[in-house]
Formats: sequence, structure tokens, C-alpha cells
Amino acid sequence: MTQTLLVLGSANADLVVEVGRRPAGGETVLGGDTVVLPGGKGANTAVAAARVGASVALVSAVGGDGYGSLLRESLESSGVGTALVKTSERPTGIAYITVTPDGENSIVVSPGANADVSLSDVDALSFDGVQVLTCSLEVPLETVVHAIGVASEAGVRTVLNLSPVADLPAETLRRLSVLIVNEHEAAQLASDWQGLLDLGPASAIITLGSRGAAVVEKSGVVEVPSIEVDEVVDTTGAGDAFAGALSARLAEGDDLVRAARYAAKVAALSVTKAGAQPSYPTAAEVG
Ligand code: RIB
Repeated sequence: MTQTLLVLGSANADLVVEVGRRPAGGETVLGGDTVVLPGGKGANTAVAAARVGASVALVSAVGGDGYGSLLRESLESSGVGTALVKTSERPTGIAYITVTPDGENSIVVSPGANADVSLSDVDALSFDGVQVLTCSLEVPLETVVHAIGVASEAGVRTVLNLSPVADLPAETLRRLSVLIVNEHEAAQLASDWQGLLDLGPASAIITLGSRGAAVVEKSGVVEVPSIEVDEVVDTTGAGDAFAGALSARLAEGDDLVRAARYAAKVAALSVTKAGAQPSYPTAAEVG
């Protein structure tokens, strides 16, 4: 393995439609034209990391269909290693995304091929030279749990973006170097931010949207600010941009606060353009 960062997670085709407002149950609203973009939390994280210069490979699965080709092209053109992206018998995962005028999104995911990312894919991994493994949760939970266990045994730092939120074994939480959650997820897990460490991870980061992020370590909480952006176009994939940029900087040896400061900037820039992967800045754009 020549990459220093491994990302394990989903790859989806994002079918995005702009709507004036979301429909209530039983209601129909008309939206704009559907745009098909490469997405998925794992693929997004890997692309965000590669754009800012990380040497990164993705562990994932796509179908042998047009959406799978779209994802492979996006990953490869961004410089993400795809040797560990397998082709499944199932169709590529699809995310149905509505975006409202304030840039907010809501998403339904059909996992498809992502459900095939398996324990044996983890057993086939080599962690030679790998500094950081970063996971998210649109692939089977047992696969993520196994990957975190194997990586931590191999002395690799482990990062988990707990999105969407799920019940993790206590042992897995104890093996985490960094747990990333948003404010709502943090509130579900603990009564205060410092309490997240009682669950087991060595550190935690709470992403705070336009306010930046809070880094929680045993020594205390450090809030890192975001940068102001002129216009919020689309927040889709901003959390993945944060996780990718953070992981990229950790793999390069930054400490957690420095890496989080950088990642907050990347996430802020990502909301100024439409879509997830197409919105991620390069290192030169981050400055
Ligand atoms: O986090 C954003 C991502 O969530 C989208 O790209 C979509 O594919 C869903 O996985």
C-alpha cells in the first residue's frame, strides 16, 4: 500500500433536485431539472482529501453500471486510488437529494452496492505505510467495526465520521483516535462535549456548521472558527469535506487542532458551490 490515508465508506450517485420547499407527506412539489453528481460519504471524504494533496485510497463498492463509471471517473480524476473499489453485482448506491434555496439538503440513500463492502474486503487490506484509516457509516456497520479493530491493532490512527449515527460496540469506540459528530449527534451521545470522551475515543470533534468545529481532548475543548463565505449554495457533503481534509492533515502529521482549523476552512469553501465532490477546493484554493 503506497497511500498514507485509507478511507472506507460509501460511493453514491447523487440525484439532486432544487425545490422551493420540501413536500409534506402525501404532497407533490415540482422541482428543477435533476442533476447527477458523484457522491457518497466515503467517496466524498476521499476526494476532499485528495484535492488538498493527500495520498489516499478508497475502500468501497459500486455497480457495473453508468453510475459506477461516473464515480470511478470522479475518484480517478481527483487522484484517489481505486484499486480497492470493487464492482458488485448490485447497482451503484443512489442518494436522492433535495436542495432548498437556503442551501440546506435532505437525503434518502439507497445503498445498493455499498451493502457489499464486507469483512473479507477488510481482511484483504494491507496497512503498510498507512497512517490514518477514516470510516463513515453508509456501508455495513460490522465492516466498519472490523476495519477499526484491525487498523488500530496495526497501529494506524482511526477516524470515524459517525454519520448517519449508529450504535457502536464500546470496544470500537475505545479503539477510535478521533470521533467526528455534528451537534445533533453529539447531543444524542452525551450530555456535554467533554462527555463524548467517556464513551471511549481518544478525542472527538463536533462540527458546528458555519461556526467551525470544537476539538475535544482530555486537556479540554478548543473551538476552531470557520471562515465567512459570501453565499451558501449547497451544504451537501460539507461534513465529508471536513472529514477528508482533517484526515489528510493528520496523515501529514498535523496535530488535531491544526488539522481541524484547516478542515473547517475546506468545509466552508465547499458550501459555496453545488454538489459534494465537485465543490471541494484544492490546496491552492484553500491557501
Ligand atoms: O454527506 C453527503 C452524502 O450523503 C451525499 O453525497 C450522498 O451520497 C449521501 O451519501
